[in-house]
Amino acid sequence: MKKLWGGRFTKTAEEWVDEFGASIPFDKELVEEDIEGSIAHVTMLGECGILSKEDVEKIQSGLLILLEKAKKQQLEFSIAYEDIHLNIEKMLIDEIGPVGGKLHTGRSRNDQVATDMHLYLRKRVNEIIELIKELQTVLVEKAEKHVETIIPGYTHLQRAQPVSFAHHLMAYFWMFERDRERFTESLKRINKSPLGAGALAGTTFPIDRQLTAELLGFDGMYENSIDAVSDRDFIIEFLSNSSILMMHLSRFCEELILWSSQEFQFVEMDDTFATGSSIMPQKKNPDMAELIRGKTGRVYGNLFALLTVMKGTPLAYNKDMQEDKEGMFDTVKTVTGSLKIFTGMIATMKVNTAVMEKATKQDFSNATELADYLAAKGVPFREAHEIVGKLVLTCIEKGIFLADLPLTDYKEASELFEEDIYEALNPYTAVNRRNSAGGTGFTEVKKAIGKAKKRLDEK
Ligand code: ARG
Repeated sequence: MKKLWGGRFTKTAEEWVDEFGASIPFDKELVEEDIEGSIAHVTMLGECGILSKEDVEKIQSGLLILLEKAKKQQLEFSIAYEDIHLNIEKMLIDEIGPVGGKLHTGRSRNDQVATDMHLYLRKRVNEIIELIKELQTVLVEKAEKHVETIIPGYTHLQRAQPVSFAHHLMAYFWMFERDRERFTESLKRINKSPLGAGALAGTTFPIDRQLTAELLGFDGMYENSIDAVSDRDFIIEFLSNSSILMMHLSRFCEELILWSSQEFQFVEMDDTFATGSSIMPQKKNPDMAELIRGKTGRVYGNLFALLTVMKGTPLAYNKDMQEDKEGMFDTVKTVTGSLKIFTGMIATMKVNTAVMEKATKQDFSNATELADYLAAKGVPFREAHEIVGKLVLTCIEKGIFLADLPLTDYKEASELFEEDIYEALNPYTAVNRRNSAGGTGFTEVKKAIGKAKKRLDEK
C-alpha cells in the first residue's frame, strides 16, 4: 500500500516487513494524546496565519470527530499506516478530504511522538501520585489502631528489639512519601513541550511554540530542538521512580508473605486477596502479595531495556526509540494495578495482635534493655554487653528466657541488678521507653502519625 511518505519510493515493503516496523499495535494507546496535540498544533497554525481560518476549522472539526470516536473505541487502525500519527492523519484525510494533509505543516512525527508521550505520562504520573496517597492514608489508619501493638523487630531476620507495629507500618509510610515526592518532582520535567522542534532543527514556518505549550497545559518548552526530539530521559526517570516504588512494595509484600505463614501467623490476608490450592484443600495463599513482588521484576526490566536502547543512539531521533513505548505502557499498568491491589490488601488484612505480642515474650530481644540498665548505672556499655551476653547463654543452657531467671543469678553477674530489672525486661515497657526522636516509643509514634497526617493534608 502507498505510504503517506511514499513519494521518493518506487517499491513498497511486503506486509511482514511493515509489521515489523509498525508501532500501531501498541502506540494506539496514545490516540487521545495524539489528537489533542494535533488540535493544539492546528489551532496555533491558524493563530499564526500559517493556515487559513477556514482550513483550521475543517481540520479541528475532523479531529474532534476522531477524538469522539477514539473515546468510544470506534477507530480502526491499520498496520499499513505504521503508527498512531500516520493512522490519525490518514483518517483525518478520509474524514475531511485533502485539506487534512495540511495538519502536518511545520511539524514532524518526531516532535509529535515526544509530545504525545509527555502528555500521556503527565496524566498517568498524576494518577500514580494519587494512588500512592491513598495507600499512605490506609497505612496511617492502620497505624493509628496499632500504636500499642508490639511485634518483634528484626535485623538479619533475627529477633532484634521489640517495636510498635504502628512504627513498622509507618516506616513504609515514609518510603512511599519519598516515592510520591520523586514522582511529583519528575512532573517538572515531564510537563515541558517538545512540540515545534520539528524533525530536529525547528521549522521555517513562523510557529508559536509558547502558544501550543500553553494550549496543552505545559509549564514551558524544551530549549533546544535537537534535545526536544532526542530526549527519553523523562521516561527513564519515570521507569526509575517506578522501580524504586515497586522495590518498596515488594519488600512490604515479602513481609506480608512471611507474616501470613504458619510460622509467623502475624497477619491474615482477607479472603478477597488470597487464593486456594487446586489440590490442597487447607491452603490459603497470599498470591496477590507474591504477584506484586514478582511484577517488580518486569518494571526493573523495563528500566534496563530503555537505558540500554538509549545508550548508543546518536542525536537526534532514531527508530530505536520506538522501543520506548511498550515498557512505559507496561509499567504504568503494572504500577497502577499493584498500588490498587496493595492498598486493598492492607486495608482488609487481619492483624493478629495477640500472636504478635506473644512472640515478643518468647525471645531474647529484651537483652539490650539489660545492657542499657547497667550502662545507665555507670557500667561501660561494652562491659554491660559482655555481662548480659553471658546471662543469655545461661538462659539458653537452662532453656528459659531472661524474665524467668531469678534475681540471685542476676546479682551474681552484677551487684547493680535490682528487682526493677523485671519491669525493664517487659517488652511493652521496652518499646514504650524508646522516645528518642523518630523512635518506637508510643509518644514518638503518635507524634509521627500526627506529622504524617499533616503531610497528607498539605499535599
Ligand atoms: N512510531 C515512531 C516512534 O514511536 C514515531 C516517530 C517516527 N519518526 C520517524 N522519523 N520515523 O518512535
